[in-house]
Amino acid sequence: MTTSPLAELSTHVSQLRDRIDGAQTLEQLLEDEVFIIGKRSILSTLQKSLGALAPEDRKDAGAQLQGARREVEGVFAQRRASLERAQRALAIEADRLDLGDVVVAQVALPLAVGHPGIVAATQRQLEDVFVAMGFTVADGPEVESDWYNFEALNIPPAHPARGMWDTFYVDLGEPETVVLRTHTSPTQIHLLEDAVAAGTLPIHSVMPGRCYRRDTPDARHLAAFHQIEGLVVDRGITFADLAGVIETFTHAYFGADISSRLRPAYFPFTEPSAEFEITCTICRGAGCRTCSQTGWIELGGCGMLDPAVFAAVGVDGREWSGFAFGFGIDRCAQMRHQIADMRALIDNDVRFLRQFS
Ligand code: DAH
Repeated sequence: MTTSPLAELSTHVSQLRDRIDGAQTLEQLLEDEVFIIGKRSILSTLQKSLGALAPEDRKDAGAQLQGARREVEGVFAQRRASLERAQRALAIEADRLDLGDVVVAQVALPLAVGHPGIVAATQRQLEDVFVAMGFTVADGPEVESDWYNFEALNIPPAHPARGMWDTFYVDLGEPETVVLRTHTSPTQIHLLEDAVAAGTLPIHSVMPGRCYRRDTPDARHLAAFHQIEGLVVDRGITFADLAGVIETFTHAYFGADISSRLRPAYFPFTEPSAEFEITCTICRGAGCRTCSQTGWIELGGCGMLDPAVFAAVGVDGREWSGFAFGFGIDRCAQMRHQIADMRALIDNDVRFLRQFS
């Protein structure tokens, strides 16, 4: 009697199951697939040997072998699925964005944080100096009518003084009636009008803001720049008060060794008018190229309010008097930090900007 080729079938099946369970990775299992359930598997060899059986035995043996194959294939499929799941979990774990770690990194690393630009910082410092002297801070529009920017400031149309300001006109209404303000002085008019309407004179205010002139930028000028305007209207205000405010401001902002001086000048909205100069911060008064060897640098203009301005806004000049001043914020930053070329303020070069954090 010949032994059935399937005599050892259950042993083969349990060996194949062990081999499947022994695969630790999906890769290993798939490499083994051909030996476990593929062409080179013992099951395929047995399948071929069934041909040698007597026809009456063949059917049973075939069914038995088929059952064994299904069992092994089922175990193989399960193992494969579980190894695939494990591999996916590993991949997901590797990809995971651990927010806990990110937070730790933010605390640990010195991340770059922005800071106000040098002009904005200078404006705040100037405001602080004037607030400490008792001034309030006010704001005005950057787009003005001709009346606020010129006429109410005693600069009628066609007045030769208009040549002092190269003006950008806004294409609105009648030609040349709306302008980008060329200075912060029109904000004086808004403040005076409001105070007259509300009956809230006196005024002690500074008005910082952006101004525009049709100028080609150079080392000391920008087409869009910043000024700070000052306005004091009260009873019994004299030129000495003006000079005192300018000198106090100069020491407070530039330091004890920098002083101010006023030189006669002309502005249509002040009478008398003066140019306000400070000791050159580059040479500290000794004389250099920046100050044309004079030891002084012009910062802005000032003067006693002209009666024509009082008349334009309806202030009684017999009861009230006042002074005004206006100077460049960018120019202050340039002087205080000795910036050779003002165009650096608008170049957006971080190596320059970083110096003023
Ligand atoms: N607005 C003038 C300018 O930009 C500067 C100025 C001069 C302002 C005299 C004043 C002033 O308030 O009184 O050229």
